[in-house]
Amino acid sequence: MIDLRSDTVTRPSKEMLDAMYAARVGDDVFGDDPTVNELEEKAALLLGKESALFCPSGTMANQIAINVHTRPGDEVICHKHAHIYYYEGGAIMKNSGASVCLLEGERGLISAADVEIHINPEENIHRPVTTLVEVENSMNKGGGACYSYQTLMEIAAVCKKYNLKYHLDGARLFNAVMATGDDPRVCAQLFDSVSICLSKGLGAPIGSLLLGGALFIKRARRVRKTFGGAMRQAGYLAAAGIFALDHNIQRLKEDHSRARYLGDLLSSLSYVDTVLPVQTNIVIFTLTNQLPGKAFLSKLKDHDIHALSLGPQQIRFVTHLDFTDAMLEKVEKTLKGIHQL
Ligand SMILES: Cc1ncc(COP(=O)(O)O)c(C=O)c1O
Repeated sequence: MIDLRSDTVTRPSKEMLDAMYAARVGDDVFGDDPTVNELEEKAALLLGKESALFCPSGTMANQIAINVHTRPGDEVICHKHAHIYYYEGGAIMKNSGASVCLLEGERGLISAADVEIHINPEENIHRPVTTLVEVENSMNKGGGACYSYQTLMEIAAVCKKYNLKYHLDGARLFNAVMATGDDPRVCAQLFDSVSICLSKGLGAPIGSLLLGGALFIKRARRVRKTFGGAMRQAGYLAAAGIFALDHNIQRLKEDHSRARYLGDLLSSLSYVDTVLPVQTNIVIFTLTNQLPGKAFLSKLKDHDIHALSLGPQQIRFVTHLDFTDAMLEKVEKTLKGIHQL
């Protein structure tokens, strides 16, 4: 099976499983799990943040951050396709009682100028008070688009000016910095909080980290407990995370080059209308009306190739560490063999 639906589909390698098997563990709710503690310290160091918190999922890490940064009735500014809003089941409203202000923006990216004109000040009693701005880097629904450091910095300056918190959904932060050449530590310094996922491009089976200042993480630890995310002998999972950080960051560029190859190939096919620019490991493309999306996906399935539909004619491929050159060859051959209906 060739699975291009997401980079979340990877299975742990033998070496990662060995590291999990060998992990020393304890009860993390008591703070006793040495491997979880090691992972949190390692991640904090890697991103130049004071503290980190191991969470079961990226969704939980993001939603904990939102819960700590806002009060019920506050407003969060983000792109209309931000994962925190579009793909997290209404959790901002359900878990934190906060409202959202959804911005437009090419490939899911927002600008400082647009953020600034959408801020509701405390003095305006008619509007929900803006307290948090969120960006996603790389941007999933924007085809893995990346922010320039300049834009991230400009938004940070607006947040500072209006005393707003600034959260980064960095589920694929390492993909983004690999593509832009930025230093992840320098990037992370712009934010009050950052979430990163271990279970996407980095290939761990489970786990995300939330990072920030010591007081923020202290509060986040309490919220994680109330969300049911405090785990016991989580060191087995943390060991996979440590392995992922140690071994699977640099190799992300291989995923990017395979994604670029797919993007170029798709652009040359007559039944493909548009391909979003490929910067990282996500390829989003639209089929012409001559080839219905459902028929395309089912033709791929006949060859045991699986992809995701994002809309009637919009398809997503995501490359990852279990997607090899041999698989790429097979996908190429299959795509070239598909003809419009
Ligand atoms: C950008 C982004 N943020 C957050 C998440 C949430 O991660 P999880 O599936 O671990 O909850 C995802 C998952 O695909 C994502 O793509």
